[in-house]
Amino acid sequence: MSGRTNFSSGLGFILVAAASAVGLGNLWRFPYLAAEYGGGIFLFTYLVLAVTLGFVLMITEIAIGRKTGKSAFWAFGRLNKKWHFLGIFSLVIPCIILPYYSVIGGWIMQYGAMFVTNQADIVAADASGFFNTITSAVAEPIIWAGIFLALTAVILLFGVHKGIQRVCTFLLPLLIVLIAGLAVYCIILPGGLDGVAYYFIPDFSKLSGEVILAAMGQVFFSLSLATGVLVTYGSYLSKKENIEKSVRWIEIFDIGAAVIAGFLIVPAVFAFSGGAPESLGAGPGLVFIQLPQVFATIPFGTVVGAVFFICMFLAALTSAVSLFEVPVAAIADKFRIKRQVAVGFVFLCATALAVIINFGYSIWSDFTIFNYQILDFTDLLCNSILMPILAILTCIFAGWILKPEQLEEEIENGSSFKAKKFYHVMIKFIAPVCVAVILIYLISQSI
Ligand code: TRP
Repeated sequence: MSGRTNFSSGLGFILVAAASAVGLGNLWRFPYLAAEYGGGIFLFTYLVLAVTLGFVLMITEIAIGRKTGKSAFWAFGRLNKKWHFLGIFSLVIPCIILPYYSVIGGWIMQYGAMFVTNQADIVAADASGFFNTITSAVAEPIIWAGIFLALTAVILLFGVHKGIQRVCTFLLPLLIVLIAGLAVYCIILPGGLDGVAYYFIPDFSKLSGEVILAAMGQVFFSLSLATGVLVTYGSYLSKKENIEKSVRWIEIFDIGAAVIAGFLIVPAVFAFSGGAPESLGAGPGLVFIQLPQVFATIPFGTVVGAVFFICMFLAALTSAVSLFEVPVAAIADKFRIKRQVAVGFVFLCATALAVIINFGYSIWSDFTIFNYQILDFTDLLCNSILMPILAILTCIFAGWILKPEQLEEEIENGSSFKAKKFYHVMIKFIAPVCVAVILIYLISQSI
């Protein structure tokens, strides 16, 4: 295939896919959902769904990509003309996520800038006040989100190989070590162990449709599923590589990062805010409110905080690259325009949408959609509605239209596929039915 850069090795693929997976989903979204949705029960549901549903969908997407050698936009249509719409549908989701992802990325940069310029004490003095002040400003958050998007665009222009791979190799391990160290610190603080108990011991009486849907949405978001990202990455993967093994490694990185981040943030809520329900339910601001308080109490907190936010920023950037890549690849292919032009176009659209999302915190803060603030609504729309629908359609496509045997052959390709029977039953029956039941149940409840 002309013009397609291949990953230089299987490890390269795992690292790039893990870098797409590990991002704000693990460090920002997972901890606040875990705190809000009952701690242990959320963690438990998340883990079960990640190794079953997440595993099956991830394998399917990568196999579709490698089989066709096409980006998501074309891959489905290549296998079956009538299913081209799935390629178009999968394009919509990254376009919605990217703008709000860059808004959060912008917040991270703003926090990083405060720490780097030695102003951490201002942040920590009134952590939730500071969060509200910076997010409700009219212009600054837009500028920061714009910078975040511009940096993502620059990385994209350097191509898959050069841009991303280098950054990921050293970044992920450093970040995990930092989070783990801070987690140990928070756990031993007074109150920290109550946080561990809340986070780790599932209370099954709290299991509900909402918890399952939230955990499922988090699996999709965190593993970068149901958006075509992995189909596109799969199309770059060499036929020699073992897909099943790669998926297991990507899952280990991703789940590991999320679980460790939870061990940091949830005990911190108990140590610093007494674990009150309002603190646990702080939502998207949770990480931004808790972390500065942690850094304020440790030796060299400003330096550690600065390194932490820089790492978190880079993790977010490598994920944003994958979100940005999907529409760029599709537009460049479809309209036969230069990649640079496509990058510019996507940049402008995403910035415009980021402006709207930011206004949801400032001049349009009274405006809500079904009682949700704009960012929360876009997040919910993607993760709890569009992604489950796309996941169901992907299962139907892989399990019934294409027949799993075709993909199983692609997955096996020279190596053994250990979970083949499990995969077969999951993709045909269990996964689509379970996702559909949860979705229909919750939609019927909210009408
Ligand atoms: N998985 C990333 C995270 O956890 C976000 C992300 C990157 C993503 N690419 C994606 C989410 C594609 C959905 C689809 O931060």
